[in-house]
Amino acid sequence: MKNTSVLLSGMRPTGPMHLGHLVGALNNWLKLQESYRCFFMVADWHALMSEYKDPQIIKNYTIDNVIDWLSVGIDPNRSVIFKQSDVEEHLELAMILATITPLSWLQRCPTYKEQMKQLKLKDISNYAFLGYPVLQAADILLYKAEVVPIGEDQLPHLELAREIARRFHHLYKREVFVLPSSLLTEESRLLGIDNRKMSKSYNNYIALSEKPSDIKRKVLSMITDPKKIKKTDSGNPKICNVYTYHRIFTDDKIKQKLSLKEIASSCQEGRLGCVECKGMLASKLIVFLEGIQQKRRFYNKELVLEILAKGAQRAKEVASSTLKEVKSIVGII
Ligand code: TRP
Repeated sequence: MKNTSVLLSGMRPTGPMHLGHLVGALNNWLKLQESYRCFFMVADWHALMSEYKDPQIIKNYTIDNVIDWLSVGIDPNRSVIFKQSDVEEHLELAMILATITPLSWLQRCPTYKEQMKQLKLKDISNYAFLGYPVLQAADILLYKAEVVPIGEDQLPHLELAREIARRFHHLYKREVFVLPSSLLTEESRLLGIDNRKMSKSYNNYIALSEKPSDIKRKVLSMITDPKKIKKTDSGNPKICNVYTYHRIFTDDKIKQKLSLKEIASSCQEGRLGCVECKGMLASKLIVFLEGIQQKRRFYNKELVLEILAKGAQRAKEVASSTLKEVKSIVGII
């Protein structure tokens, strides 16, 4: 039976969707859309906070990312797919929440401190970026979402959303909001080809729209067990990123030269070399991504704009009703 609990999640359109997004988020969204009333949002305002110098990329990746969401199976008939900036209520609620959010809560947010340290190249010491979690709280609270699937790095933002909601309830003695809970993805984060977290900024990703020749090149550059130098050396699949990929992307329904077990044992016993092992992985990923890429061809910009327009309409119905309640409570009508 379909659960009527509301779920909301979002992604910033700042780069191509890659295998890390698929394993860490999209596969999860796919499962969740079976059992929740889902809102999946393109967080373009959040993207603008860091990409304001080159905003064209937000426009392009909004379309491109949604095409990927649709191609992996996010279903616009079942879930509401929308763009944050199409629903003005997000900014209005964020403004109201900003008035009751102490500056110190934002200044000591660990993600803020971390990003300021890491993203030295991008100037994000702007007023909007400090308020990033306030807008994210508005995104969530507007829809009274009970469940928010996120990566671990986003936990402080969810905690802030709860804190802000509690403070609102306390100040105005009205329980308008639902306190959201996080839903952490089960699958551990997929590492990039250099063994660091897969990310656009490290340029270590394999995009869902990656060309076969680039998949091959990238997979061949992956790091394996550093102790396995020759084919005959005994390797340790447990610490090998290539093996992790085999584990995630081996589909038993497709006939393969070696099963997952055989890959592990022949690596350990020195019968399988890393180059051959990577070759097999590249072929697997090419076949796997070809499936998604074939579906990608079905969508174009016009279709995506249509889906986003319908999604915005459905999102607005919920968002405007919550905002009305909130505005009347704070005396702005
Ligand atoms: N901050 C999130 C990220 O970078 C994106 C996001 C914006 C989001 N609003 C949200 C995620 C609301 C969950 C709920 O990944």
